[in-house]
Amino acid sequence: MHLKPVFAANWKLNHTPTDARSFLQRFLALTPRQQDRTIVLCPSAITLTTVTDGLRDRPDIWVGVQNVHSEAQGAYTGENSVLMARDVGARVVLVGHSERRHVFGETDAMMTKKCALVAQARLTPILCVGETLEERESGAAATVVERQLAAGIAEMDDTQVGAMMLAYEPVWAIGTGKTATPEDASDIHGVLRRALAERIGEKAAAGVPILYGGSVNRGNASTLLSSPDVDGLLVGGASLDPDGWSSIVRSSATSTE
Ligand code: PGA
Repeated sequence: MHLKPVFAANWKLNHTPTDARSFLQRFLALTPRQQDRTIVLCPSAITLTTVTDGLRDRPDIWVGVQNVHSEAQGAYTGENSVLMARDVGARVVLVGHSERRHVFGETDAMMTKKCALVAQARLTPILCVGETLEERESGAAATVVERQLAAGIAEMDDTQVGAMMLAYEPVWAIGTGKTATPEDASDIHGVLRRALAERIGEKAAAGVPILYGGSVNRGNASTLLSSPDVDGLLVGGASLDPDGWSSIVRSSATSTE
């Protein structure tokens, strides 16, 4: 089955509202409406409403947030909630990005709560999974991503799991210029697809987009997209420049797999 490819930009701690306005001016001029693909922009929470305002005439482009707190509301100074995200027009939430896990110490148990909360709010979680270099070298990559996926979907029902997205982002490939080979990406995407199939059945699992992320750029985007089981791309650094990002979101798989 061929899924509509998903191109998600993770701007991380970059792009002020002013930057985002100039980004959109250029990006929208270069990027006509896309019917056959889903484009998602994930700015910081502070920049989010500038982006949703700028996309008022472009409902084909979705907006997402990079994180939400694991509780719906309460005394959590500095955090953002899933309901706030939904209220300002976000449709997607990145959950468990490797920087949340490794820089901010977020645990699998938090991913369980966050994915359930996001799905209950009827937003789409993009659950990010990926192994460290040490884990890959010790042959544990598949076990690690299976564990992270199991935690993420533990409190979601099967319909919610069928409506989510996954992103495989090997930690050693993020922001390093080292990309997984298309074969390595496909192997792990296959592991994730099989684990999903065990939980929700093959047909439903085939409909869950599994994105690859980690040093994607305009030079390698098409090759990665051509790999079996790679249904889209989650892009950090290379999504910041409107020309480069426009060229990435317009790329297609190079083979007829
Ligand atoms: P990168 O980041 O494209 O800069 O490697 C990807 C990500 O962290 O989502």
